[in-house]
Amino acid sequence: MKAQVFSNKCIKGPYFKLVIKPSQKLTYMTGQFVMLRPAETTSAGIFLPRPFSIHGISGDDHIEILYKVVGKGTEFLSRLYEGSEIEFLGPFGNGFQIDIYNKPDEFIIVAGGIGVAPLLGLTQLIKSNCKETPVKVFIGGRGIMDLLCVEDFENHGANVVVATQDGSEGVKGFVTDALEEYLQDIGPDGRIILYACGPNAMLKRIYGIAGRSNIETTFSLEAEMACGMGLCMGCAVKKSGGGYYLVCKDGPVFNGDLIEFSND
Ligand SMILES: Cc1cc2nc3c(=O)[nH]c(=O)nc-3n(C[C@H](O)[C@H](O)[C@H](O)COP(=O)(O)OP(=O)(O)OC[C@H]3O[C@@H](n4cnc5c(N)ncnc54)[C@H](O)[C@@H]3O)c2cc1C
Ligand code: FES
Repeated sequence: MKAQVFSNKCIKGPYFKLVIKPSQKLTYMTGQFVMLRPAETTSAGIFLPRPFSIHGISGDDHIEILYKVVGKGTEFLSRLYEGSEIEFLGPFGNGFQIDIYNKPDEFIIVAGGIGVAPLLGLTQLIKSNCKETPVKVFIGGRGIMDLLCVEDFENHGANVVVATQDGSEGVKGFVTDALEEYLQDIGPDGRIILYACGPNAMLKRIYGIAGRSNIETTFSLEAEMACGMGLCMGCAVKKSGGGYYLVCKDGPVFNGDLIEFSND
């Protein structure tokens, strides 16, 4: 499928927001992702599309992507202007599920850096299905420049805590330290469901912290992908009982108990 760039703007530092209009109307679930490749990249030596979460939908079915420039593909993406053509595959993956019949006492959402991308939509989904349930959001990054969408989460009714490793904003330290401290304060009562997206090391740490407090975890995983649809085996992650899942086909959203983090 083709899509056209509607806008592509730097938000801050290496973070950009891309808005594209696909040639066909899409239906999608929050947490799903798309594979994108700018039309002229083969001449620049970029042959494979790159995966990006759907951050939101705006206007007349325009798709919003929040991305960080980390390498060749995203650098090329950042130079696209209004009207550029993009190859577009998807939406792929399973997306987030909310069990509206079995609501918890609280939702916790933890985002590391660009991990916020799929989690704002999740917050909207939670708030539209479980209006009364408090949503606590932890957003972490190296510094103030890595904290994205804080006000957007607040506008959706979430109570937000930010943490930076350099102390330039919010709590000084890892976002997982702030999470751990919060859980100590609220004690063991009540049922909490935690969702997270970010680097694997962060997810592994969260899984350990949540396990000690009996909290159910759901993670949106990242992996390097080539096809996005279960063909290349490039996105395999270890299952907790042995064997592998494909992040693109079986995920990217997984119950934390299903994933083996020990050797990451
Ligand atoms: C399901 C899914 C959803 C994603 N959603 C987003 C999103 O919404 N916004 C966003 O900015 N990024 C997202 N990513 C990550 C994004 O796909 C990569 O940053 C992108 O492919 C990098 O392409 P590149 O050519 O710029 O970097 P490359 O030149 O390919 O790599 C540059 C560096 O980034 C690392 N890298 C590449 N891909 C990944 C990856 N998937 N995870 C971790 N490190 C990687 C490489 O190891 C290397 O160190 C998502 C990934 C997945 C699997
Ligand atoms: S990206 Fe090819 S199998 Fe998952």
